[in-house]
Amino acid sequence: MAWDPDLYLRFARFREQPALDLLARLEPRTASLIYDLGCGTGGAARRLADGWPQARVIGLDSSAEMLAKAQSGGGRVVWQQGDAAGAAAISDADILFSNAVFNWIADHPRVLPALLARLRPEGQFAFQMPRNYEQPSHTLIADVIAEGSWAGRLDNHLARPHVMKPADYYRCLGPHCADLEIWETDYVHRLEGEDPVFVWLSGTALRPLLGALDPGERPDFETALQAKLRRAYPRGDDGFTLFAMKRLFIYARR
Ligand SMILES: C[S@@+](CC[C@H](N)C(=O)[O-])C[C@H]1O[C@@H](n2cnc3c(N)ncnc32)[C@H](O)[C@@H]1O
Repeated sequence: MAWDPDLYLRFARFREQPALDLLARLEPRTASLIYDLGCGTGGAARRLADGWPQARVIGLDSSAEMLAKAQSGGGRVVWQQGDAAGAAAISDADILFSNAVFNWIADHPRVLPALLARLRPEGQFAFQMPRNYEQPSHTLIADVIAEGSWAGRLDNHLARPHVMKPADYYRCLGPHCADLEIWETDYVHRLEGEDPVFVWLSGTALRPLLGALDPGERPDFETALQAKLRRAYPRGDDGFTLFAMKRLFIYARR
């Protein structure tokens, strides 16, 4: 699936806040090798490089488009194309950081302990994932898929609910950690502009679906979804639209 870095960055201020909250949880321990897994356009990787000036910082992402944007932002990060779930390529890391990426990756009970095992003793693994499957932003996409001429064809492209409940992460990571902290934050974003929730989703959850639609179907799909989203997320008299989003944070130390 292709990413559009400029569309993704339309809401940079809001998308960045969870990354800042996660960065703030890292302990200031010495580090010589740090990965930002799924670094996207590279903002958090650059902050990691600033915070640990002695460390080699690798920004790894599967998307050539996102990496090209990251590279254009400069900094001393080494940008690498690769799979964030590919633990075998990682060894002796002191920090694994990942913001809004593992929700795209399946099989957490296998993938996450394998990554944790690639850390040096006392290494830190901090990641955040949206956990919004029951919110209208996601259920309405499923409704539109079920109602149109595209029904049946798009099911495979609907975002899979890879993110588990907090207690499931406690069970799969707890036995391997010296320290494990799990928390959730409900962000309430104050978005500007026309159909801002639709635009937000176009930069992330909708990308695989929009790419799978026939070009002729796309306007009908978009109109149907925009109408539903407008009802679920009405624009206030002040012109802003409130968009609530739950995110799950995990901080693990070996
Ligand atoms: C929502 S963006 C988050 C980007 C960045 N971490 C941030 O906080 O802005 C998700 C990123 O994960 C990347 N991604 C998704 N699956 C991946 C995988 N299996 N391996 C590496 N990167 C992946 C995408 O290419 C995209 O850049």
